[in-house]
Amino acid sequence: MTECADHVALVTGAGGGIGAACARRLAAAGATVVVTDVDEASAKNVAAELEQSGARALALPLDVTDPQAAVDAVAETVRTFGRLDLALNNAGISLPRQALDAVPVELWQRVVETNLSGVFYCMRAEIPAMLEAGGGSIVNMASVLGVVGFGELSPYVAAKHGVIGLTKTAAIEYASRGIRVNAVAPSFADTQMLTVGITPRKARAAALLAPMARLVTPDEVAEVTVFLLSARASAVTGSVHLIDCGYAAR
Ligand SMILES: NC(=O)c1ccc[n+]([C@@H]2O[C@H](COP(=O)([O-])OP(=O)(O)OC[C@H]3O[C@@H](n4cnc5c(N)ncnc54)[C@H](O)[C@@H]3O)[C@@H](O)[C@H]2O)c1
Repeated sequence: MTECADHVALVTGAGGGIGAACARRLAAAGATVVVTDVDEASAKNVAAELEQSGARALALPLDVTDPQAAVDAVAETVRTFGRLDLALNNAGISLPRQALDAVPVELWQRVVETNLSGVFYCMRAEIPAMLEAGGGSIVNMASVLGVVGFGELSPYVAAKHGVIGLTKTAAIEYASRGIRVNAVAPSFADTQMLTVGITPRKARAAALLAPMARLVTPDEVAEVTVFLLSARASAVTGSVHLIDCGYAAR
């Protein structure tokens, strides 16, 4: 697999879960991978694992809620590897389920700041570097909950719907300058996140509502994500790819 050879990719929230699976899949596809996470130790672990497997990798601390940190991470990527071609804006958080009127304002702000503004801050930093490199490809991590509603997760659902709007807008703005921008929308995946926002038991119950009646795996998300990042998806931009075992089809 060499579809991303000679490409430099930056992944946010890559210290675990879906982001780490995507970082591994990008490395397997030949990309140089900049593994970023607010938890620097976890980013270092994943980058070390990629290097051991023969890939070029770099770990950087990046809290996506900090616009300057996003600019700095892109600058460090370009300083180290000379360019930025691919970006996966994956970092996100969930929250305990509660009705809209019980959601503390600070919690709303934290979820929207991380899951939506974080994607904006990162794209705002990545796009100039990609223009400099002559083009690029971005995938933003939405969710099936960016396409359909889900009770008692209003900040998360609203932020993920916002990610899709942002993705479509960026795709329109940069298509003529060689940057493709797409979103992926997984349903419930078995990661650390499921222990926060929705208990594993309830997640499995929700997943059973999908025609395929199961959770999605991080590797399945990575497969579609790296396809979209790669030149194999050269005509694909502004689109949202459900990876949801059919959840939204009903
Ligand atoms: N797990 C699911 O069911 C599921 C379903 C659909 C979409 N998603 C989305 O996939 C993405 C990854 O989720 P996951 O399931 O792998 O969760 P996870 O909790 O396993 O991993 C999230 C990673 O993001 C990092 N992170 C958190 N806040 C950050 C910040 N401010 N800046 C940078 N990094 C930060 C964490 O340290 C962690 O490494 C999220 O955007 C999530 O909304 C998850």
